[in-house]
Amino acid sequence: MTATEQRIEKLRTEALSAVSDAATTSELEDIRIRFLGRAAELSEIKKSIGSLSPDERKEVGKSSNLASREIENALSEKKNDLASSERESKLRKEAVDVTLPGVPFQRGNLHPTQRIIDDVVDFFVGMGYGVAEGPEVETDYNNFTALNFPEGHPARSEHDTFFLDEGLVMRTHTSPVQVRTMLENEPPVYVVCPGRTYRNDSDPTHTPMFNQIEALVVDRGISLADLKGTLNAMARHVFGEDAKVRLRPSFFPFTEPSVEMDVSWGDGWLELGGAGMVDPNVLEEVGYDTEEYTGFAFGFGPDRMAMVKYGVHDLRMFFEGDLRFLRQF
Ligand code: PHE
Repeated sequence: MTATEQRIEKLRTEALSAVSDAATTSELEDIRIRFLGRAAELSEIKKSIGSLSPDERKEVGKSSNLASREIENALSEKKNDLASSERESKLRKEAVDVTLPGVPFQRGNLHPTQRIIDDVVDFFVGMGYGVAEGPEVETDYNNFTALNFPEGHPARSEHDTFFLDEGLVMRTHTSPVQVRTMLENEPPVYVVCPGRTYRNDSDPTHTPMFNQIEALVVDRGISLADLKGTLNAMARHVFGEDAKVRLRPSFFPFTEPSVEMDVSWGDGWLELGGAGMVDPNVLEEVGYDTEEYTGFAFGFGPDRMAMVKYGVHDLRMFFEGDLRFLRQF
């Protein structure tokens, strides 16, 4: 055996034992480069074959090729083994134990005001009313003028209005939805209008944004008795069978007569909101025949109702989004 052949034999055994010791496919790649790569000793030997004597050339050529092939085969066999065991251990690591208890999921719940709104709207829909909505940015015309607030009338300034550009305001009540509904529909009209409203006001019972629910009925022969009957039915639905509504004289430009409505609560009365018979000036403004039609309207704050129903003392809590508070309902 020539010295070169001994070198080949040594490289062959070294390579085969490295392959058999390899633990990962990336180690195998290193081994391949080390023993079969362009700069490997075995490759150098093959390159030098041309300069050997013919006899030697044949022997060295043969044994170096055999060695390369043997190393290649060992590499590819080992690679298959490792790849499948690596796949297995990956699968084992990623396996999900479906018998473990799940991560508890936090369930949301409806905001107390939203519960009242849904409850009241359901009640009216059940009586055959439609639901009407309007934009929160409203024209001064719909919010005031069409509702019989004359220009410069003190009732306008009582609303603490957020004025926007060019005859627009943040609506101060849901009553402009009355105007929109009547402009778009011929009587009879039976609608309930929930929505957000805005006034520049903030204390324990007032927030700059608050909710209102409006109702409007226009039909033949509608009277104040219909208003009171409707309010009583709604109060019983929301507050229970014993609830009653009390009306007190009041003033709104768009109703005549106008009343303030209270609902019985415990031993006392809770102020709900305003109501009245739709002022004929409003009906005329939207083109309704006041000889034929009369109507009633009312508007109240579901936030206030929620405060009372759930015993919350500061209205501002409803709008702070504090989950510790909201989760209690
Ligand atoms: N829009 C009035 C308010 O916000 C309430 C109201 C509605 C009064 C409908 C009468 C009729 O105070």
